[in-house]
Amino acid sequence: MHGINKVAIIGSGQMGGGIAQIAAVNGFETVVYDLSTDALDRCKSLHNKLLSRAVEKGRMTDDDVSKTQSRLTYASSQDAMYDADIVIEAVVEDLDIKKKIFSDLADKFTENQILASNTSSISITDLATSVGDAADRFIGMHFFNPVPVMKLVEVINGLATSEETTKRTIALSEAMGKVAVPANDRAGFVSNRVLMPMINEAFYAWMEGVAEPEHIDEIMKLGMAHPMGPLRLADFIGLDTCVHIMEVLAEGLNNDRYRACPLLKQLVVAGRLGNKSGHGVFDYSK
Ligand code: 3HC
Repeated sequence: MHGINKVAIIGSGQMGGGIAQIAAVNGFETVVYDLSTDALDRCKSLHNKLLSRAVEKGRMTDDDVSKTQSRLTYASSQDAMYDADIVIEAVVEDLDIKKKIFSDLADKFTENQILASNTSSISITDLATSVGDAADRFIGMHFFNPVPVMKLVEVINGLATSEETTKRTIALSEAMGKVAVPANDRAGFVSNRVLMPMINEAFYAWMEGVAEPEHIDEIMKLGMAHPMGPLRLADFIGLDTCVHIMEVLAEGLNNDRYRACPLLKQLVVAGRLGNKSGHGVFDYSK
């Protein structure tokens, strides 16, 4: 149904690495491409660590792990991606960078290849303009962090996405062990249009002294059964990413109610980006 044997992922960070892991675990030949060999090394060692942990927990055998590892290639040259049946881009959330990546590759694409972006909020219709005639094969595949754990793939159709591309992408997501849920191409799609204003509001509640950060999180965890409070989740996502998504919502939905909270923006200016910088709302340095 999906007709996919080989999956290529552009970007070996947290999201790209996670997508590569589940693709390989579920039997797909997988190549992770990144310009940085250091980033590829980090991605490979995280894969090895998580696969070993899966053995310890009895979810995989040593044989499963070595088969998974044999399906994974870490490449710093783009050639390794050209014959993939799908290319999933998972680089930094920047429209121009993403468009450049796709337009640079445009003449290498094969006829049936699906071109997907793991963007969290950037317009799929806009990104698809970078691939010319291949826009009908362009689609959003929005995975959630941590990718090996979270069940959802939000599948976003751009204006030109063909029905066949959507069907193949949904079938592929299911073959990767996920539940695919469709959404249309409006700013933030569904997930971040609903999630980010809640996170932003938690920053306002903190800024206005309604409660301490720990208490805001505790209230949402215990009262609403969220696995993480909104402020810890913001740290986990990255405060810079949260600001970026709020800006996409404010501009795309043309409404001031999506403006990023000044305190959230101030933390980003101060370099407090969350888990990745060791300090965000909470301090992770110890
Ligand atoms: N990679 C792989 N597995 C991981 C992992 C990672 N990075 N982090 C945790 N896990 C696994 C653990 O191994 C463990 O597996 P096990 O139960 O089989 O042992 C399981 O997840 C639970 O982990 P822990 O016991 O260490 O910790 P928690 O029970 O606190 O769970 C959590 C951690 C899964 C991260 C949980 O807190 C959670 O679900 N948080 C919410 C995450 C969330 O909302 N993600 C979406 C973010 S929004 C997004 O990504 C979209 C973007 O556009 C912004």
